[in-house]
Amino acid sequence: MDAPIPALARPARAAARRLREADEVLLASHIDADGLTSAAIAATALERAGIPVATTFEKQLDEEAIAAIAATDYETVLFTDFGSGQLDVVTEYAERKGFTPIVADHHQPTDAETAYHVNPLLEGIDGGSELSGAGTTYALARALADCGRDPEDHAADGNRDLAALAVVGAVGDMQTVDGELVGANAAITDEGVAAGVLDTTKDLAMYGTQTRPLPKLLEYANDVRIPGITNDRSGVVRFLDGLDMELKADGEWRTWADLTHDERRTVVSALVRRAVRNGVPAGRIDDLIGTSYTLPREAPGTVLRDASEFSTLLNATARYDRADVGLAVCQGDRGEAFQEAKRLLRTHRRNLSEGIEWVADHGVTREDNCQWFHAGEEIRETIVGIVAGMAYGANGVDRSVPMIAFADADKGETKVSARGTSALLRRGLDLSTVMQEASRAVGGDGGGHTIAAGATVPRGTETAFVEVADDVLGEQLD
Ligand code: C5P
Ligand code: C5P
Ligand code: C5P
Ligand code: ZN
Repeated sequence: MDAPIPALARPARAAARRLREADEVLLASHIDADGLTSAAIAATALERAGIPVATTFEKQLDEEAIAAIAATDYETVLFTDFGSGQLDVVTEYAERKGFTPIVADHHQPTDAETAYHVNPLLEGIDGGSELSGAGTTYALARALADCGRDPEDHAADGNRDLAALAVVGAVGDMQTVDGELVGANAAITDEGVAAGVLDTTKDLAMYGTQTRPLPKLLEYANDVRIPGITNDRSGVVRFLDGLDMELKADGEWRTWADLTHDERRTVVSALVRRAVRNGVPAGRIDDLIGTSYTLPREAPGTVLRDASEFSTLLNATARYDRADVGLAVCQGDRGEAFQEAKRLLRTHRRNLSEGIEWVADHGVTREDNCQWFHAGEEIRETIVGIVAGMAYGANGVDRSVPMIAFADADKGETKVSARGTSALLRRGLDLSTVMQEASRAVGGDGGGHTIAAGATVPRGTETAFVEVADDVLGEQLD
């Protein structure tokens, strides 16, 4: 028996054995790309093992959500991509209502223990950059196949085909480091490549290589800023026209995926020359190239072909109360659900660009150790974190302090999202602790990762929240 992530082998096996004993399982997961891929991996592995599974999605695993789960008749509940951060409440309800919780998560755990807890952070693996919720669930899925009662279970190559979804989850949680997946995520990638469900290539590191027309691809890429290209539509068109290549087909701009290998090389060389000429430092120019994660079994030129575009499609479903659509796509639906997902994606993209524009127009308020904006009802609370992250990367934003974003939520509450940078991590940033301490100080709750975290607080406590957060940040960033 070989485990994809040896450090998780023991807890994954224990959880898998317990799942094998269940007559049926309730699966609860988080409403984002990583949560959806986690759910798809778990549901597929359970179905293959002949264990009936029902799935439910939650925005946050707060006490109300836990109580609702506890009120069902299920004796076995599998939590994926959340559960660790709320383990104290989960175990309390589990004991009281008599169900067995099994958790596969990568968020910062609270101070509580349970028998079936798979979490990279408990085994010395970084849950922010080395393993996602989907990757953790993949380890569980592999263990489920390995402890199969029925040799037929091995038909799917020990569930190795699910590695593609694990990579979509990791990329969706933005776990790449210097343009590629590392650590346990890389080990999963290798299994997926060997199983024929993933390809990795060194390629232009820009979002939208499968579906964006070339000018849009270059215009909106802002990880590496190139004067005269980034955010400069007419500059991009002049640049492309100057290449003297056939970059249009039937009057429409081609996409990166449409180009041949040689054509791509020509464009990359011209981009690099342009960047050098405009004084972009060599270290930054290297960042133009990264590893792209391709799903070779998906049709070229579709959003599903590229892990990062796939993850955006999933966010476009789950964050708009249509997790069922995203889950169906993850489990292979290329008909009705896929069409609906693409419709939702158009709305999501419009909302993201309107949100970023709103932040640019309204600006942020600077405190000693952070900056913040309050979008009220202008940005949907389920995407305000994505908008905060994207706005944080935009031109003219001060990246020397973290970004905190507020938006109105239901029930008189406010959603908070916080985003930092790897440079800030090196100075001691831990946004998970910041969100937890500041939210608890005002009667809310929060958590997450060191580089990206969130919270929910009572409406009206925002100013007090910022004060506490700013103090905690002051101590961290000393
Ligand atoms: O639920 P949770 O783990 O899924 O979500 C992680 C969030 O953190 C994502 O929204 C992702 O975009 C964000 N993130 C980030 N920068 C990183 C790592 C994660 O903004 N370097
Ligand atoms: O939507 P999602 O969280 O998957 O987006 C992840 C990243 O992909 C964003 O932070 C952004 O850099 C990029 N993106 C983009 N344009 C979009 C959607 C996502 O550049 N329309
Ligand atoms: O919602 P947002 O994208 O800002 O979430 C960033 C990270 O913080 C995610 O990993 C999310 O699961 C986590 N989070 C949390 N508790 C909350 C809100 C967000 O652990 N109340
Ligand atoms: Zn996650």
